[in-house]
This record gives sequence, C-alpha cells and structure tokens, in this order.
Amino acid sequence: MRSISSLKKSLSVKETPETDQDSTAIGPDKARIIEEIRKTIYEVRDLPTLPTIAHEVCRLIGDPNSSMVDLVEVIEEDVPLSGRVLRIANSAYYGVPRKIDNLKMALVILGMNEINNLVTTISVLNLFPQQSGKTTFDLNAFWRHSAACAELSVGLFEGLGLPCPSSTYIAGLLHDVGKLVLNQYFPEYLLTCINYAEEHHITLAEAELKLIGVDHGHIGSWLSKRWNVPDEITKAIAQHHVRPSDTHPYDLPAVIDQADRLFYVMEGRSTEEAVELLGKDSAWEAWHANRGRSTPELIKLLYERIERSLKLVKIID
Ligand SMILES: [Fe+2]
Ligand SMILES: [Fe+2]
Repeated sequence: MRSISSLKKSLSVKETPETDQDSTAIGPDKARIIEEIRKTIYEVRDLPTLPTIAHEVCRLIGDPNSSMVDLVEVIEEDVPLSGRVLRIANSAYYGVPRKIDNLKMALVILGMNEINNLVTTISVLNLFPQQSGKTTFDLNAFWRHSAACAELSVGLFEGLGLPCPSSTYIAGLLHDVGKLVLNQYFPEYLLTCINYAEEHHITLAEAELKLIGVDHGHIGSWLSKRWNVPDEITKAIAQHHVRPSDTHPYDLPAVIDQADRLFYVMEGRSTEEAVELLGKDSAWEAWHANRGRSTPELIKLLYERIERSLKLVKIID
C-alpha cells in the first residue's frame, strides 16, 4: 500500500535540487514511481476500459476495407448510443433541415468521419467519473480542452493543406488521458506537479518530467496500450510533448502538440489577439512556413472549430 507521506517525500521539490538540469534523468525514486504507475495501469482491475464502440471505431478507421454498413452495425448494437447519435444528428448542432430517422441516413448525410468522431466523443467523455479524483482537477474543462484539440488537430492538417490521418480526431481527443490516470490513482503526484509547474513557470509536462521522470503523454500511452488502441494513436499520445529529435514536424504527434499549444494561445483571446501573438512567435512562423492558409485565415477557421467542439461537449454532457 502506498504511503501518502512517502509519495509526497519522493515528489518533494527538495528531493530534486535546482542544480539538477537533466529533467529526464531517472533517479531511484523516480524509477520506483514510474514502476508504480506502470503497474497500476497494467494490473489494476477497476481501471476504466475503453468502451467497445470506441474500440470498434478505432479498428474500423484503421481498416481500409471497412464500410458504412460495418459502422452502422457496430453502433446499432448499442441502443442508448444509437439514440444519442440520432438525437445529436437532429439537433441544432448540425442544423440539418430534414429529419434524420436512422443511423444509415445519419451516415449518408453527415459522413462517416463525422459519425466516427461523434460516437468516440460520446463514448469516452464519461470514462473517468468526476468524483474519483482528489485534486481540484476540472474534468469538464479537461474534456473541453481535449475535444478542442481534436478539432484543432484536424483543422491544422486541413488548413495547411496536408493529408489528415484518419486517427487524428481520436488521438487529439485522447492525447491527455494520462492526466486522468494521475488524477484518479495518483492525485498527490498530479497536485505536486501542478503546483511545481505554477511556481516555476513551466508546463505541467516539464514538471512531471522533473519530478516523476515521465510526462502524462507517456503515462497515457501505457493506458492506450492496455486498451489495445492502434499504435499510431498510442504514439501520438506518448509523444505529444516530447518526441525524438528526428520526428517530422507534420507527423501526427507534432501536429497534436501544435494544436495543444494553439489552444492555450487562442483560449480567452480574440482572433486578432491570437494572430498578433503568433506573429511574434518565430517557432509558429517556422512551423506554419506559409503553407496553405495564411495565419489570420487559419486562426479564424480554428476558432470556429473550437466553438463546434465546445457545443458538442455541452450537448453530450
Ligand atoms: Fe498534454
Ligand atoms: Fe493537452
């Protein structure tokens, strides 16, 4: 059984002196903590499982031979889910002028991608119940961020005129799932890292690397491995903050990272303010590299996508 005081001690700032510049170095305590987290993910019985439907959607989008009929069959097996999909398909969110009576019709009118994204969002949104965490972690804000990043990632591929991998939306939706693991099973770790990040003006992922030795991306990828999520999604989750230096800048993990950064640039700001900030950001300029749409055009479209994602999370809630 874990002792909270020993956890706090092993995570305390005093244990990791300021002179320790190598944030990826794993000391004996970090190794023990990492093992503890891995064991929890791989061995705990009551760990939330990825709903069958999300699994099936992951499998279908990765299978070039899958068809609309396959997807309808999978969704129809889950009666409450089918009902929700139809209710949302007929809501103002899509604004379809005619009544959508059945799933096949929803698929024809809204498209396979849209239905894939919708059923995945519905099925993962209640994965970890709010009351399970002992920190002040805001689960609703978490899913708003995740759904926004899913939309932003797709929007970035499209806006830059790059082919969008079919798993982009799901990878964006699940990219921070490691934070949920920390919140549910290691709330003291999460709280210590959040406080450390705030005190030192660094990101949460940097604080996690410093104090735990792995970030929530890696932790999330262990969960997605246990869930048997396709490798491309697991890799994107693992590498959305830290990647090998030779990763291509428009690979899925890099685009999700960019979407994540953009979310924080755009959140609470107007299009003009966000564009102005990005204009001063040489890393953004280099990444955007005048591909596809101009930054102002792109940001305007991305705000519309965030708006859509917020509406969707609200409808599903
Ligand atoms: Fe993250
Ligand atoms: Fe994130």
